[in-house]
Amino acid sequence: MDGTAPASPARADAPQGQGLTARLRAWRNRMIGSDRFQRTVARVPLLRGIARRNARDLFRLNAGFLYTQVLLACVELRLFDTLRDSGKSETALAAETGLSRAALARLLTAAQGLKLITRLKDGTWWLADLGAVVAHNPGIAAMIRHHAMVYRDLADPVALLRSTGETETSRFWAYAGQMDGASVDPERAEAYSRLMHLSQDLIAAEVLSAYDFARHRTLLDIGGGDGTFLAEVAKSHPDLALWLFDLPPVAAGAETAMAARGLASRTRTFGGSFFDDPLPRGADCLSLVRVLCDHDDPAALALLKAARAAMRDGDVLVIAEPMGGTDDDRRFAAAYFEFYFLAMRSGHCRTPEQITTLLRAAGFTRIGRRRTAMPLFTGVMTARV
Ligand SMILES: C[S@@+](CC[C@H](N)C(=O)[O-])C[C@H]1O[C@@H](n2cnc3c(N)ncnc32)[C@H](O)[C@@H]1O
Repeated sequence: MDGTAPASPARADAPQGQGLTARLRAWRNRMIGSDRFQRTVARVPLLRGIARRNARDLFRLNAGFLYTQVLLACVELRLFDTLRDSGKSETALAAETGLSRAALARLLTAAQGLKLITRLKDGTWWLADLGAVVAHNPGIAAMIRHHAMVYRDLADPVALLRSTGETETSRFWAYAGQMDGASVDPERAEAYSRLMHLSQDLIAAEVLSAYDFARHRTLLDIGGGDGTFLAEVAKSHPDLALWLFDLPPVAAGAETAMAARGLASRTRTFGGSFFDDPLPRGADCLSLVRVLCDHDDPAALALLKAARAAMRDGDVLVIAEPMGGTDDDRRFAAAYFEFYFLAMRSGHCRTPEQITTLLRAAGFTRIGRRRTAMPLFTGVMTARV
């Protein structure tokens, strides 16, 4: 043993109290948790800020569910839509929402506290920054509504962690945990594809600024949904041929959607399952946008091997999805997505290192990371054969 080994299960499971590091860590945690320490810290000017930050962080963690319910109430009552273009009086808002004045006052106070709306001196209510973002992005409102279902599944998180059965969220993502895409019916495929379509804008913008598709002739988007990502790439790359592979009912929907966007002549759609059917060959760029993360490791590896089999020397695979890590954005993404995928019964928010391990196991060699402006939403990686 050279003492430099990274944390491994064996090390993590070492009996408590062994080693100086473990004893120091246990002492530190006892001290930070003690009343006496917290009272002392609250009196010391320089340390007071740290105590307040910790208290605020814990308060927010504990209050998270209530905050999200405030957001849901605003969306369901169409408060952001009502205030989208102009401010309104409380009388007007009571009429629009159908709430009693007392209930409305409660909602407005809560939404103001969360910086969703703000009250001007003349008494009218307007959108604040966060409310304005929701009002102008239908994808965010769709996600907020969708979360009501996910949170029902998460109402008993311990039971969810201890079990493996079906959930509402796994039924919504009809392919979740299945190696057999044939079981996905068109109605279910349409429902999740619509949600993906609405939330694709931000992701596509991130990928386009992180990776230059200009060097490619044909882009094959694997698990490409209704083609929204391809259509976004097409806008700035008029000569790129657009190929899409997805489950048969989704690919059929994409064909119609791409034709409606006027992109039929540039598009080819392929229906199949990447677990059972070979991916089409001939594209010099392949993309997996929010697809790999949906699957547990064995399935993710099978998918990467399928992509690898369709590629030649010089072709590039672009992976875009939320990624875990230790910086503020990624650790929050990881906490959220790990529990989202728990409710979905399949998938992981992987770190770039974990994705790299899977890519290597699938036979990829030149693996790189791209910087994105919003790592909370998506990371971008590239790999070559
Ligand atoms: C989370 S959605 C992402 C859609 C799109 N890439 C986006 O970012 O908006 C995952 C996509 O993978 C597709 N998919 C899941 N399992 C599949 C399989 N076995 N074969 C082909 N596509 C599959 C789904 O139909 C869905 O369109």
